[in-house]
Amino acid sequence: MNMRSILRFGAKICFVRRKLVFDARLDQIPNVTARTPVTFRFGDASDLLRLSEGTHDYDTAATRFSLDRLLAGDRLVIAESAIGPRDEVLFYAWLMFGQLDLGVGKYLPLAPDSVYSYRLFTAASHRGKKLCAAYFTFIREQLEAEGHRRLLCWVESRNLISRRVHEAAGFHSIGCIWHIQFLFRSYFYVPKTLRASLRRSHAEHTSAALAAGAGASRV
Ligand SMILES: CC(C)(COP(=O)(O)OP(=O)(O)OC[C@H]1O[C@@H](n2cnc3c(N)ncnc32)[C@H](O)[C@@H]1OP(=O)(O)O)[C@@H](O)C(=O)NCCC(=O)NCCS
Repeated sequence: MNMRSILRFGAKICFVRRKLVFDARLDQIPNVTARTPVTFRFGDASDLLRLSEGTHDYDTAATRFSLDRLLAGDRLVIAESAIGPRDEVLFYAWLMFGQLDLGVGKYLPLAPDSVYSYRLFTAASHRGKKLCAAYFTFIREQLEAEGHRRLLCWVESRNLISRRVHEAAGFHSIGCIWHIQFLFRSYFYVPKTLRASLRRSHAEHTSAALAAGAGASRV
């Protein structure tokens, strides 16, 4: 084992990371069409098994976790080429209801009208073609029809591309979660105000904003 691999292993088991929590009102997500012809749809277990380690960064542990999440009610969204062979998944993402997953089996409760979007991935050969932006348009239509109002997610602060993609899709940051990994244990610091914001419904957010506006105009 050389110095570089020792350092890499150390950075894997001991780190401090910031997860930026993003929030978007579904009705503020813009209409975007992908720059390559694709069809979005919800996937099932057989679609999940098409995700490979090489093309989709999906290893056996991820597949096992996702099979459990499918049974728990999470939904897989996939995009396939609308012109070429339909055997390749060009994009996938997941939706979770009622809770936001911090990884390592820890969850934060969400308002019933909010949905958590996670594990977004575009195949490397198709990045920059607005597949991710078009995914938000697809789920906006589906989720609004079911009565949902807000979409939430978290992005590692160092993932600048993902931050940009979310901001362009109408998301704004509502706080940050500190993730401390020490040896093989994960610890999270979630500010109380952020927990409360995640639990508030869209209607509660709107009335709080109106009350704050009324207070400001009285000053
Ligand atoms: C984040 C990710 C899903 C975005 O998917 P995408 O389909 O390429 O997204 P879009 O095409 O809608 O937008 C990509 C943006 O990144 C920019 N970009 C920067 N570097 C890029 C690169 N190397 N390749 C492609 N796009 C790049 C594009 O120009 C575009 O910005 P623009 O709208 O200002 O032009 C994709 O980069 C990915 O799968 N990354 C690895 C996994 C990941 O980080 N997932 C997010 C977890 S929160």
